[in-house]
Amino acid sequence: MRVDTHPKGFFSIAESVSEQLLLGGMNVGEHKIRKVCIVGAGNMGHQIALSAALAGFEVKCTDVNEEVLKKAEQFVITYLPERVAKGKLTQAQVDAARANLSFTNDLSEAACDADLVIEAIIERLEIKRKLFAELDSLCLPHTILATNSSYIVSSKIADVTERPEKVCNLHFFNPALVMKLVEVVKGPHTSEETAQTLMNFCVSLGKTPVLLKQEIYGFLVNRMLAAIKNESIYLLDMGIAGHEEIDTAVTLALGHPMGPFRLMDLTGIDLTYIVGLERFQETGDPIYRPSPTIAEKFVKKEWGRKTGKGFYDYPNG
Ligand code: 3HC
Repeated sequence: MRVDTHPKGFFSIAESVSEQLLLGGMNVGEHKIRKVCIVGAGNMGHQIALSAALAGFEVKCTDVNEEVLKKAEQFVITYLPERVAKGKLTQAQVDAARANLSFTNDLSEAACDADLVIEAIIERLEIKRKLFAELDSLCLPHTILATNSSYIVSSKIADVTERPEKVCNLHFFNPALVMKLVEVVKGPHTSEETAQTLMNFCVSLGKTPVLLKQEIYGFLVNRMLAAIKNESIYLLDMGIAGHEEIDTAVTLALGHPMGPFRLMDLTGIDLTYIVGLERFQETGDPIYRPSPTIAEKFVKKEWGRKTGKGFYDYPNG
């Protein structure tokens, strides 16, 4: 099934993908996507994993860090009953999701039988390249290797594998359980079939995918977000207004659900710093150099919600 040639539009595609899931998976060539491996159980990884488990996929979520794994599992244990109490999920859906989802620190166990691997680890190119080379040797020949990287395009990674046509960017947004959009970014090496399979996979998660036909730094959303973030930090550093006033302006005048400072707290100020610094080192363009405010927060480990303090305080985590 191809999303772009379906005669009846999006809803029929969603129905058709759900039908495929009921029949036991989604096609990848002659194979089906039934098993999904998520590498990296942090902020993004564990929520992507849970989204896939709730959609009926068999998911293994892995991380090298035991503490991160435990935290991810704890999130699932707390979150799912809350959804039942709120009337958003039935007990049967929760039980099915729990049965579909497991956590392990063993990459080989998590990846060896997966049809799709989604990498959601730290934004460091060399670490991702090493991981993809390892995944290439661990995974079945038909397995698609996707990266959830916000900024690193898959053409910087695909060449370490023997399957560049099965390597693609698949970019979710934070919080991944809630945000509907996913960017599917096709590199020059990515096959049509891989991109379409990932588009279909997103629909089966209840998400709305957008296809980028070419790679570009920051894809669609982070490019737009960067412009707002940079301007907001500039206004703050100039002493024109405080972070709360700027957030209020953006929410009330532009209708964004949260302002740029609250959003940086959600996505992680460490990420803003690391990504900005790497891009500055890569391009030499001062626009990307992290501002002193961001650098100071990075050094003080005031990274936002994940450390209990960012631009705002989160005493309860
Ligand atoms: N994890 C899971 N679910 C969450 C959540 C979280 N961290 N925070 C909120 N939710 C859920 C709640 O359970 C609730 O679900 P329900 O309505 O089905 O019961 C729903 O979201 C609404 O939550 P609240 O009523 O508590 O709060 P809000 O209405 O303020 O919504 C928000 C919270 C969804 C985070 C909303 O403020 C929002 O959409 N903010 C903008 C987020 C955004 O811009 N994300 C993109 C970031 S950029 C990015 O991700 C790029 C990447 O490369 C870093």
